[in-house]
Amino acid sequence: MHHFALVDGVMHAEGVPLPALAEAVGTPFYCYSAATLARHAQVFRAALAHLSPPPLLAYAVKANPNLAVIRTLAGEGYGADVVSEGEMRRALAAGVPPERIIFSGVGKTAGELEAALCAGIYQINVESEEELHALSAIAAGLGLAAPVALRVNPDVDAGTHAKIATGGSEAKFGIPAERIPALYAEAARLPGLVPHGLAVHIGSQLGDLAPMEAAFSRLGALIAEIRRAGLAVTRADLGGGLGIPYDPALPEPPSPEAYGAMVARVTAGWDVRLAFEPGRLLVGNAGILVSRVIRVKRGLRRIFVVLDAAMNDLIRPTLYGVFHDIRAVVPRPGALRATFVGPVCETGDQFAEDRETTPLEPGDLVALMTAGAYGATMASTYNSRPLVPEVLVRGREWALVRERQTVDDMLRQEHLPPWLEEGG
Ligand code: LLP
Repeated sequence: MHHFALVDGVMHAEGVPLPALAEAVGTPFYCYSAATLARHAQVFRAALAHLSPPPLLAYAVKANPNLAVIRTLAGEGYGADVVSEGEMRRALAAGVPPERIIFSGVGKTAGELEAALCAGIYQINVESEEELHALSAIAAGLGLAAPVALRVNPDVDAGTHAKIATGGSEAKFGIPAERIPALYAEAARLPGLVPHGLAVHIGSQLGDLAPMEAAFSRLGALIAEIRRAGLAVTRADLGGGLGIPYDPALPEPPSPEAYGAMVARVTAGWDVRLAFEPGRLLVGNAGILVSRVIRVKRGLRRIFVVLDAAMNDLIRPTLYGVFHDIRAVVPRPGALRATFVGPVCETGDQFAEDRETTPLEPGDLVALMTAGAYGATMASTYNSRPLVPEVLVRGREWALVRERQTVDDMLRQEHLPPWLEEGG
C-alpha cells in the first residue's frame, strides 16, 4: 500500500501532482511519501505488538539514509540499524537516541568501534572472533563496557537473490553456529565486553518465511545452550529481510502479520527483548524515481524509451536483474511495448525489457515504482552524472530533502597535481 496514485489522470504523491514537482526540481528525482513511511512503520509495529517486552525496532538505515526519512521513522519510535560510522552519525543527526542504535557489519574499523562505544549505542553486533578481541581491547582501553550481541551464521539458504543472501555457511557474515557457545563464554570473560545476546540476518527481499523460521529456531537452540552453561542471554536481534511486492504479476511476499505470528510462535518462552532491523519493508514502496522521456527510438526489432534516469541513479535492475514497475505519470490511452533504457554507455543500463505500458512520447514523465529502498543510496556519478535530488511529500506539502548535486560540486573535489597544472 502506498500513496502514489492517479488523481484526474495525473499521478500524485499524496496531495502533490508529480508534474509540478518535476517543474520545480527538474528530473530525474526521487520522491518519498511521508504517509507511506508512517503507515509501514505502524503496520510493522502492530504486527509485533503482542511481543513482550516491546521489541526494539531499528530501521536499517542502509535502505534509505536520507536524514528526513530517518527522522520520519524516528518520529514513529524507530531506532536505527547502522553499518558504518557515516550511518551512525546520520542516525544521531536525525535525532535517533543512541540507546536505540545497533551497529552491524562484518568490517567495522577500530575507529568505528570506538565511535560506537563513545556514542553509547544500544548494541554492537559482532561478526567474528577477531572483531570480538579487537572490541574488547578498545573498550577496555577506553574504560567502557561494550554491549555485545554475537551475529550467528545459521547456515540456511534464504532462497533470495544470491547477491543479497547472507545466511549461508560460505557467506562472509556472522559466526558459525557451532562456535557461538564457546565464543559467548569467552566474551563474558574478556575485559570491556558485556554479552547480551545473539543476532541473525539471513538475507533481504525474502519471499518465504520458512528459512527465517529455521534461522530463528537455530538461534533459540543456541540461547538455551548458552544458558545451560550458566550465562545470561537477555536479547535476540532477528534482523530484517522481509520482502515487498515489486512485480504485480507475482504472488505477494508474506505479510507483516504472518511474519509477526511466526516470530511470536518461534520465540515463545525465549524470555529476551527482541530487536528487528527492517529496511526495505519500511521505505521500499514509499519512494519512486521520476524521470522524463528524452527520446523514443525505433530499433530494428524493438522500441527503446530513453529516459533521463540511468543505471547510476537506480542500479537495482542492472545489478540484480530485478523488476521495477514503470508507469506514465499522465497515462495516454492505448498500449506500448518498449525497452526502457538510460543514457549511460553500457548495454546493462536498462530498466526493463519489452515492457507493456501506455504510449509514451518525448517529454513525458514516468515513475519507476518501489524505488524508496536501495535506490538513491546506491547511486553513483558514473558518466559524470550528478546525484539526483530527493523530495519528501506530506499531504499537500513537499520539501527538497537533498539537493541535486552539480557538476561544479564534483569538480570542486578534484585537484590537479602540481606537475599537471598550467605552467607547472
Ligand atoms: N540487517 C542487516 C544486518 C542487513 O545486512 C540488512 C540488509 C538489513 C538488516 C535490512 O534488510 P531489509 O529489511 O532491507 O531486507 N541492495 C540490495 C539489498 C541489500 C541488503 C543488505 N542488507 C537490494 O537492492 O535489493
